[in-house]
Amino acid sequence: MPVLNRIAAATEEISAWRRDLHRFPELMYDLPRTAGFVAEKLRAFGCDEVVEGIGRSGVVAVVRGREPGRGQVIGLRADMDALPILEQTGLAYASSLPGTMHACGHDGHTAMLLGAARHLAETRAFAGTAILIFQPAEEGEAGARAMLDDGLLERFAPEEIYGMHNMPGIPVGQFAVRPGPIMASTDRLEIFIDGRGAHAAKPHQGVDPVLVGSAIVMALQQVVARNVDPLESAVVSITMFHAGVVENVIPQTAELVGTARTLKPEVRAMLQQRLPAIVEGVASAYGATARLNWVDGYPVTANHPAQTIFAAQVAAEIVGTDKVDANVAPMMGAEDFSFMLEARPGAFIFIGNGDSAGLHNPRYDFDDAAIPFGASYWVRLVEAAMPL
Ligand code: NI
Repeated sequence: MPVLNRIAAATEEISAWRRDLHRFPELMYDLPRTAGFVAEKLRAFGCDEVVEGIGRSGVVAVVRGREPGRGQVIGLRADMDALPILEQTGLAYASSLPGTMHACGHDGHTAMLLGAARHLAETRAFAGTAILIFQPAEEGEAGARAMLDDGLLERFAPEEIYGMHNMPGIPVGQFAVRPGPIMASTDRLEIFIDGRGAHAAKPHQGVDPVLVGSAIVMALQQVVARNVDPLESAVVSITMFHAGVVENVIPQTAELVGTARTLKPEVRAMLQQRLPAIVEGVASAYGATARLNWVDGYPVTANHPAQTIFAAQVAAEIVGTDKVDANVAPMMGAEDFSFMLEARPGAFIFIGNGDSAGLHNPRYDFDDAAIPFGASYWVRLVEAAMPL
């Protein structure tokens, strides 16, 4: 079964929703227009329940199949937030808010799930119940966790949850997924170095935190080279280095900020133990003190094996087996759908966005040609998981 006919016929309309969302991007939890747009559409489609304000600005819709008592409860999740980026696409429907942009395609994700919602509400060719989850704040503030903390699972009881993200570089009309880790954990590293300030002409009277910080940056790179199993994955990047205000003063302190990413909890735990030890040890060797503040970000996004096989089968139904990579290489980017996959079995799948600019790039745009594939995938996932 290729793209569903009704979805194909609705592609232009779903694209129009996507472009409307694109013109009015909103950030993090502050999504009054976007969440309002979503809730209004869901009500108009005749969903059985539409609940707003879950996880502050998340929206959840319930669509019951024809035999809700018999089937499962399946959750489908899309994200709604944009990014603080100045759009440079020059598109007719480009962001009307300078400095805010849908540069990760969440406008497309939202529109595709809305398209699926309408189809499911109109046809209800499934048993059980579909839960449509529109979340805020994927871009760094853990909107998925906020929805979980706000009782998403208790109130709507999804037994499995599925997610989808567009991926530049994968052709439109193709999907990619893998069992196990598909996206990395990401944690923030904050390093505070205390040296001893001095006149720049008398370095021997001070303890130079710039030098200490440089040594720490170098030493931290060796953790990946010498503590991580060569067959495992990790990234340690120091991306900010702040110290000093003038050329003739050795500063008293320095501050480093960076990111640590892994694909396995045990590698993450090792970094969490090794990085502070190195920071403290290197500083001590120079006569300075330093401490590392580890700020938990998103955990590893780990797909569950059975649900991954099922997701790949559904995708293959839409686009053909040869257009589904069921064992794609994982990515070191992160995704807060990880919290949902920690709580319930499910799978996170990539949908091709073709040869577009990369995610989070000011020239990126979601490819509307992907809409019929993504929306059909959602519909068939529900129908195949809970057949009549
Ligand atoms: Ni994204």
